[in-house]
Amino acid sequence: MKINPHSPEPSKIKEAAEVIKNGGTVAFPTETVYGLGANALCPEAVKKVFRAKGRPSDNPLIVHIAEISDLKLIVKRPPKSAVALIDEFWPGPLTIILKRKKVVPDIVTGGLDTVAVRMPDNRIALSLIRKSGVPLVAPSANLSGKPSPTRPKDVASDLFGKVDIIIDGGKTRIGIESTVIDMTTRPPVLLRPGGLPLEEIEKVAGPVRRLSEEPAVLRSKPARSPGMQYRHYAPKARMTIVEGGTEAAQGRIKRLAKEGLKKGKKVGVLTFHKYFSIEGCINKYAGTRPETVARRLFDTIRGFDKDGVDIIVSEGYGGKGLKLGIADRLRRAAGQIIKVKTC
Ligand code: TXA
Ligand code: MG
Repeated sequence: MKINPHSPEPSKIKEAAEVIKNGGTVAFPTETVYGLGANALCPEAVKKVFRAKGRPSDNPLIVHIAEISDLKLIVKRPPKSAVALIDEFWPGPLTIILKRKKVVPDIVTGGLDTVAVRMPDNRIALSLIRKSGVPLVAPSANLSGKPSPTRPKDVASDLFGKVDIIIDGGKTRIGIESTVIDMTTRPPVLLRPGGLPLEEIEKVAGPVRRLSEEPAVLRSKPARSPGMQYRHYAPKARMTIVEGGTEAAQGRIKRLAKEGLKKGKKVGVLTFHKYFSIEGCINKYAGTRPETVARRLFDTIRGFDKDGVDIIVSEGYGGKGLKLGIADRLRRAAGQIIKVKTC
């Protein structure tokens, strides 16, 4: 269902909202990635979301609201610092974990006594939530484990035939998911870096504790944010990231790519430098500026699958601000990370 992202047609929003009210599922755009929406207060509807995505039932969902006043329906009184974050950043790419009220079904929170809440900054999303008259769960609208969709055709290639409506509202603006922060503890804890830079959050809420940047699969302790323990965003091909100084890393990437080619493999190269490419490989440049890379990352990774590559070798990417979220997604997509020393 094509909907104008600048001025959503009321009749189409109404049709999609009817589906939600009847316990159905609707994929819709947010400013970060596409989400798969259902009535958050109806366990049967939420079950359909888990089923369509093939998502493990212990991985809780984010509840999306369109009015600040709806917050008190689902959470207990939030701490002052959380209210300050909400004032500053909603609607926007920030998800806040708060103590939940009983109306939020167990299936939404995986049985936790907390719930993740956010208000998306997208007209289609906001008008759909308003018209539905209920908060919506909306995990990213991909099959569990795949890269999140930033374009309607990516949603369709994962979920066509498994959901009731897929809204086409164009490409998403940010491209990686919201930042998730747990405000039920002091100091607050960053559970997932994302579209809103941590530094912005700290200006408003004070120091935030960072969990290890390593994917949780590599850590021994149980994950605080259950979703972070799974391999994620993964292409079909095995992906290796080479981190380190540009020249040394590119040298190693060339070697790895040549080895792959020699074995008769189709090799993909993911780069953040416009003029770096390797002959005989499928080279994809995802941009250099963080805003560009965030927008293109998932769709570039999906592109390698479409080209049928066997192995992907990628440059590393990271740093502060939005780069932190990008580095997280890139590393989670990879099966292997190699660090090269620059002498
Ligand atoms: O940008 C986004 O946040 C997108 C768009 C569609 O809104 N949604 C999204 O949802 O990324 P999902 O389900 O793919 O990721 C939700 C993350 C998971 O890592 C999950 O484990 C975590 O939030 N989460 C949800 N509820 C939680 C809770 N009560 N405590 C800790 N982590 C929670
Ligand atoms: Mg997801």
